[in-house]
Amino acid sequence: MSFVRVCGLSELEEDTPKRVELDGTPVSLVRTEGEVFAIHDICSHANVSLSEGEVEDCRIECWLHGSAFDLRTGKPSGLPATRPVPVYPVKIEGDDVLVSITQES
Ligand code: FES
Repeated sequence: MSFVRVCGLSELEEDTPKRVELDGTPVSLVRTEGEVFAIHDICSHANVSLSEGEVEDCRIECWLHGSAFDLRTGKPSGLPATRPVPVYPVKIEGDDVLVSITQES
């Protein structure tokens, strides 16, 4: 699993998603509840950027139809989305936020 630095921890505001791209993959970074999460930035229901939605209770809400995705598991809380979106491991090293989007070690 290879981790890549995506931004500085101090660049992330609490509960304000930040969209980054890793090897062409859009990822939304979310700092909330003392942790940083990385979730695929496209809703599983339609081609909508999740980073434009609101963060609450460790979930990110799709602004278009309101499904909220758990930042830990990627699972939607309710309709209309039925499929989870991928979530990615995050490491914090000093002020660096590192994310791995690869599945293999
Ligand atoms: S596009 Fe996200 S819930 Fe419909």
